[in-house]
Amino acid sequence: MIEVKHISKDFISPKKYPGLKGAIKGLFSNEKIVKRAVDDISFTIRDGEIVGYIGSNGAGKSTTIKMMTGILTPTAGECLVNDVNPGKQRKENARNIGVVFGQRTQLWWDLPLSESFTILKEIYNVSDTDYRERMEFLTDVLELSDFFDRPVRTLSLGQRMRADLGAALLHNPKVLYLDEPTIGLDLVVKDNIRRAIREINEAYRTTVILTTHDIGDIEELCSRIIIIDEGRKIYDGSLEALKDAYGTGRRVSMEVKKPDNIKTLDLAGKLGVLPEECRMEWDQNTLSVTFDKHRLQVPQVMSAVMELTEVQDIRIQETELAEIVKQIYRHGLAPETV
Ligand SMILES: Nc1ncnc2c1ncn2[C@@H]1O[C@H](COP(=O)(O)OP(=O)(O)O)[C@@H](O)[C@H]1O
Ligand SMILES: [Mg+2]
Repeated sequence: MIEVKHISKDFISPKKYPGLKGAIKGLFSNEKIVKRAVDDISFTIRDGEIVGYIGSNGAGKSTTIKMMTGILTPTAGECLVNDVNPGKQRKENARNIGVVFGQRTQLWWDLPLSESFTILKEIYNVSDTDYRERMEFLTDVLELSDFFDRPVRTLSLGQRMRADLGAALLHNPKVLYLDEPTIGLDLVVKDNIRRAIREINEAYRTTVILTTHDIGDIEELCSRIIIIDEGRKIYDGSLEALKDAYGTGRRVSMEVKKPDNIKTLDLAGKLGVLPEECRMEWDQNTLSVTFDKHRLQVPQVMSAVMELTEVQDIRIQETELAEIVKQIYRHGLAPETV
């Protein structure tokens, strides 16, 4: 179990002044600027959960992960990972966790990948039997065999990411931290990585905390998400609950036989809602109606249209998660959902 209790992190840097004169002035000035990157964040994560830690650029995601992994010490508050304080009990912590930062590698650049694994085996004191069993699983799930003997520097970004994941998991840690694991990868590779993460979580009940601003990662992997903005937690809950509270938009697209019959229709008026609660858009013969699911229901909208013309094809969409998250960044959460 992971317990994060009221952690904050301040970064202190010298105050900068503009221009050359400013640069010189800055050299002799003692003025400091305090940047609060993480501001009083608390949460608990149970064993075996996959939690998405999301937020826009600079929200404080990486800083939180660095405190949870022991790379940074919190300015205030405390974090416990299976009763271990990551910053203070570094050895115990290292046994418990695996970490992958999407933009860096922990592998030895010039060595064949296989040798990185041999070195990590020694570092983590993995027995020969465990090593064999583990490598069999990882090679299979992450498809490492094609490039296992190649120097790390010759690997593609996607191959390197798979290799890094394998390296982080060699000692079978209980907790896996992934900071932007799919950044810069193409769709197919993203898919592979996501599938591997899911399989690892299922096979070993590994707890996974991943930061991302790829909504696809969240939709594919996370049952729970924590959203942070400007260092503060603004949402913690299931993806379904979030969609339910925010994804209230519905869009019905209908290909109709006689568009002219409806082009003059005041659909909102007919259904008794305000014009902005029921918007119509045309694309050739296809009419799309966007409305709030709390105000109108799909059959009402459809029957109003079908009264006037035949509908040949129909498609119903929910508001996309990406849209919901954007909305939250823009406006914050409604008080009752926090
Ligand atoms: N070492 C540092 N020194 C000063 N400011 C930092 C440092 N690391 C991060 N920050 C600042 O803290 C904020 C949060 O950064 P970060 O945790 O990296 O965000 P995210 O990972 O969500 O993009 C940003 O404003 C960033 O500029
Ligand atoms: Mg980051």
